[in-house]
Amino acid sequence: MKRTFILTLGLMVAVSGLARAAADADPFVWSRATLKQIAAGDPAKGEELAGKLKCSKCHGDKGISEDDTSPSIAGQIPAYNYKQLVDYKSGVRDSKDMKKATAKLSPQDMADLVAYFAKLPPEPPLGKAKPPVLVTKGDPERLLLPCAMCHGKKGQGWGFEVPALTGQKGEHFVETMTAFQTGDRANDQYGRMRFIASQLSEQEIAELAAYYGAKPSPKEED
Ligand code: HEC
Ligand code: HEC
Repeated sequence: MKRTFILTLGLMVAVSGLARAAADADPFVWSRATLKQIAAGDPAKGEELAGKLKCSKCHGDKGISEDDTSPSIAGQIPAYNYKQLVDYKSGVRDSKDMKKATAKLSPQDMADLVAYFAKLPPEPPLGKAKPPVLVTKGDPERLLLPCAMCHGKKGQGWGFEVPALTGQKGEHFVETMTAFQTGDRANDQYGRMRFIASQLSEQEIAELAAYYGAKPSPKEED
């Protein structure tokens, strides 16, 4: 009896140690200093660095990916992109490609890169569909706020941390929403997107991707 108790206690300590290790892995905290650093990013230096590091190999010449599974990064809210780079480098957001791409970047490099990509025009959305109810009204039954409340009426993003969705690659949209659902992507602060995605069906995610997304590239269509 006593032994089981001690064993259980040991296990609890081990588990809480693990939880702490995971929490320690997230170094990202929004602060005025970080926002100032991002605002001071130099797009010309960012362009040069992007060329040197060949970001275009996966994100296209002008930040618009040719492959529908890689996200487009042109015209994106710079602070959102900055946080993603930090999260890839620390491993909080998991991607082999992006871990490699960010391994040697300093905070200043990241600020320069996101300043450059923010200035490039995003891909237009298909824009024909009427917005799904989830975008405009949400669903109070499931405690879902309208997407537009945070991501903007036109999906253009909002403030510093909420990304633009308009013109994003549909396949990346579906993949990342599914990763929020399963917890494979867990870098959203306060778990907001994990909660929202967990309430959605596969079909709803597909409809939202079709509404926000860019036209699929021809080679993916057939
Ligand atoms: C070998 C391919 C590859 C290279 C090179 C690459 N990326 Fe990426 N990038 C990806 C993929 C794939 C993702 C999506 C990964 C995921 O699902 O989280 C991504 C995601 C991102 C995101 C997050 C976008 C979002 O909407 O959340 C940013 C920002 C980004 N990359 C910037 C860059 C920059 C800047 C460079 C150059 C320094 C770069 N990438 C180089 C493949 C690449
Ligand atoms: C309460 C505010 C809020 C609401 C409501 C919300 N989002 Fe988000 N969303 C966010 C934030 C904040 C992020 C950035 C998370 C991070 O830092 O990685 C995000 C990220 C995303 C991303 C990742 C974009 C990328 O480029 O990888 C997608 C896709 C997304 N949201 C879709 C939606 C959809 C669809 C809805 C409606 C069903 C929705 N969101 C509702 C706040 C919100």
